[in-house]
Amino acid sequence: MAFLDIVDSTQELLDAQAHVWNHTFSYVNSMCLRCAIQLGIPDIIHEHDKPITLSRLVDALPMNKAKSHGLNRLMRILVHSKIFEKVNISEEEEEEAYSLTTASRLLLRDEPLSFAPFALAMIDPIQMYPFHHLFEWFNDESPSPFHTKNGKDFWELAANEKKWNQVFNEAMASDARFVGSILVKECKHLFEGLNIVVDVAGGTGMVAKALADSFPSLKSIVLDLPHVVAGLEASENLRFESGDMFQFIPPADAVLLKWILHDWSDEDCVKILEKCKEAIIPSRNNGGKVIILDMIVDGSKEKEKETETQLHFDMMMMTVVTGKERSEKEWASLFFAAGFNNYKITPILGLRSVIEVFP
Ligand SMILES: C[S@@+](CC[C@H](N)C(=O)[O-])C[C@H]1O[C@@H](n2cnc3c(N)ncnc32)[C@H](O)[C@@H]1O
Repeated sequence: MAFLDIVDSTQELLDAQAHVWNHTFSYVNSMCLRCAIQLGIPDIIHEHDKPITLSRLVDALPMNKAKSHGLNRLMRILVHSKIFEKVNISEEEEEEAYSLTTASRLLLRDEPLSFAPFALAMIDPIQMYPFHHLFEWFNDESPSPFHTKNGKDFWELAANEKKWNQVFNEAMASDARFVGSILVKECKHLFEGLNIVVDVAGGTGMVAKALADSFPSLKSIVLDLPHVVAGLEASENLRFESGDMFQFIPPADAVLLKWILHDWSDEDCVKILEKCKEAIIPSRNNGGKVIILDMIVDGSKEKEKETETQLHFDMMMMTVVTGKERSEKEWASLFFAAGFNNYKITPILGLRSVIEVFP
């Protein structure tokens, strides 16, 4: 049967073509965002202190001034995707200018909660190249497309490539500063009454630092691999320990796992959770627990954009490491397999949730 006979109308066929085109070029959004951060566009608009016209933006940016037509088009798509806003600054002349949105405020370099390091790292070729090997991976024996591409896993590469180690750790630190600030503001109850918390695979310790600053009587230990914690300075109630979480987790009242379990397969998660259980000193009634900060995928159709972002993360976890984003049912089966009794989900971190898991 001819294609045109299957569809109800020519319009349906054209819509389908537009849909596939949109999908084909989705990466353009990522690349334009990366370029805007690299050029420092959010910072220039911010420093200007009011909406900025295209010609002033061109003057202020470190760019070849003959390419202002390119900047105009870059800004057009970023306004379309609501990264920037276009406003009219003089009604008579209909002069237009660009201003920041809350999204682009999060991309300012000097903003303490800046997401720029995270966005740049996630759109870095090291993160993106493995996606070109997805097809190959479906037919090889590699644990991940990242491994197919690089012949080693993500953490091995970070251990061996100093520059990428820095870029990735700074990306995680930027997210950890963001989440840490929300945790100490909105989730104080999670940490009240605890004496020691161990942040397992806690990166460069930004969440632990937020806890140490907010709860002076709480001691925090950050456990991570040697290339991540080497040279990091301890403070009175925060110390770093280098080690492998599959081998040993320092004893504590509560174990924090922020953005860790989504990096690993179900089997590895059960091993990590078993080690967490061994590390917890008090009973549930005396505060003993694991605190997980991760996504819960619910696939809800009403939250189309949120679900799509979670599915993007899931594909990244499959491509770059050996992990996945999980539904509540999948989480629960990990907890029970590792010998935990109960759990409580608090969806307080946007696309991520706080999951308390009790022994
Ligand atoms: C996705 S990052 C999350 C870092 C931090 N928890 C955060 O959210 O900002 C994963 C972390 O796991 C660490 N890691 C990987 N394998 C590990 C292991 N076997 N033992 C301890 N840490 C490990 C990495 O070095 C990295 O810092």
